Amino acid sequence: MEKQFELNKVYNLDCIEGMKIIPSKTIDLVITDPPFGIDFKAKRENYNRKSSRVLDGYNEIRGKEYLKFTYDWMQEVKRVLKDSGSMYIFSGWNYLKDILNALDELNFITINHLIWKYQFGLVTSRKYVTSHYHCLYVCLVDRERKFFPYSRFDKNAKDKKGSSLHYKDKEDVWVINREYWNGDIKTPTKLPAEIIKKILAYSSEKGDVVLDPFLGSGQVAVVSKMEERKYIGFEIVKEYHDFINERLEKNLYRIKDEEVGYVQKETELLTLFDKPTKYKHKQKV
Ligand SMILES: C[S@@+](CC[C@H](N)C(=O)[O-])C[C@H]1O[C@@H](n2cnc3c(N)ncnc32)[C@H](O)[C@@H]1O
Repeated sequence: MEKQFELNKVYNLDCIEGMKIIPSKTIDLVITDPPFGIDFKAKRENYNRKSSRVLDGYNEIRGKEYLKFTYDWMQEVKRVLKDSGSMYIFSGWNYLKDILNALDELNFITINHLIWKYQFGLVTSRKYVTSHYHCLYVCLVDRERKFFPYSRFDKNAKDKKGSSLHYKDKEDVWVINREYWNGDIKTPTKLPAEIIKKILAYSSEKGDVVLDPFLGSGQVAVVSKMEERKYIGFEIVKEYHDFINERLEKNLYRIKDEEVGYVQKETELLTLFDKPTKYKHKQKV
């Protein structure tokens, strides 16, 4: 592989091979959402979206290969993560056991098992509706781990009822809506910007290097850029990789679908740098 290590770059590579270009202990934070390990059809009309605007592709991993695949990519993350770093891994429940087993095998320390509760799931008639995702917050050296407990709310800030705002924000169930991108080009699954901003605020500082081995639509790289972090990442599907590069190069949060030639009024194109989120950082207490 001839690729050179560069920050603020996304690579169209298999991340297990691609991460080998990253020098050891250079990454401050990993935020990632690996493939689901289920027969996920990227082009199907899921979640009521018009499939014509959903980019084709999506590289899936077969169930029986999931544990080895997970172990292999995590082993590279273990090598490149700084002692002060941490990783957030999103997962549905199907292959959660493989992710947990690989983390144990590689001696990652679990800090929290977070739940992301989103606003809708697929309608069911013979079982309950899945409307949450797991997010494992892990690290390698706990005493070195960066965490900024009052980066979003001051220690003494209270809501109208007198309850502590930072306490509420740090509870381990996060209720955050998925984003609808009506009329814009999209990939079939993506993390909302709000969830990435929250993780960046608690677990990184401006200028830190954020890695996502499985970029998809590139949300982690795009939001890291918005929040003045450095980024690096991998996406194996070329069409997705081109889409991410276009977003980053044009500093656009959403991209209008030229073929459809239409953007709904309420979904104006958003640029990345209108309002960078202002957080102050105080070191851990
Ligand atoms: C669940 S999606 C990530 C979605 C992303 N978090 C977002 O917000 O758009 C997983 C992505 O990993 C990609 N992928 C699968 N295997 C890969 C590999 N070995 N290396 C790099 N990317 C891979 C898939 O094509 C897919 O786009």
